[in-house]
Amino acid sequence: MRRRPHQSDLTQPEVFMSLIDNARAVRENAYAPYSKFKVGAAIRSASGTIYTGCNVENVAYPEGTCAEAGAIAAMIAGGDTRIAEVAVIADSPKPVSPCGGCRQKIAEFAHGDVAVTLATMDGIVQRTTVADLLPGSFDADYMSRV
Ligand code: THU
Repeated sequence: MRRRPHQSDLTQPEVFMSLIDNARAVRENAYAPYSKFKVGAAIRSASGTIYTGCNVENVAYPEGTCAEAGAIAAMIAGGDTRIAEVAVIADSPKPVSPCGGCRQKIAEFAHGDVAVTLATMDGIVQRTTVADLLPGSFDADYMSRV
């Protein structure tokens, strides 16, 4: 879907690329010396700004962070809080599947009907939604008695 860029977007060339192109570009910066599995993620926020993230591993393995978490952190740091669309790409045999933790992180900032594009480097694309990725998600309603 093409969107006419706002004036303010003209300083952000990323908006002229598709969301998956943004994810593919940032994947190149992934720091994945341990798994060798580079992942790129891109978020289009409700304001139209594109935020990207890549996985950043650590020699203390559990300290590594996923591409999706990086993109979300960039979005929050940039002053946006609502996700309008997500794209994730990796060099996998089938479209990369966000981990459980990242599904929950995405759901924090996205309605269930938000589109998620999952892709391989050789062009296989799967379109899904936040709700399909995380059915029965825990949300604030469960804490309404507190
Ligand atoms: N990874 C992501 O960044 N996102 C995903 O959706 C799947 C997994 C990363 C974490 C780790 O750096 C590497 O891929 C292998 O699990």
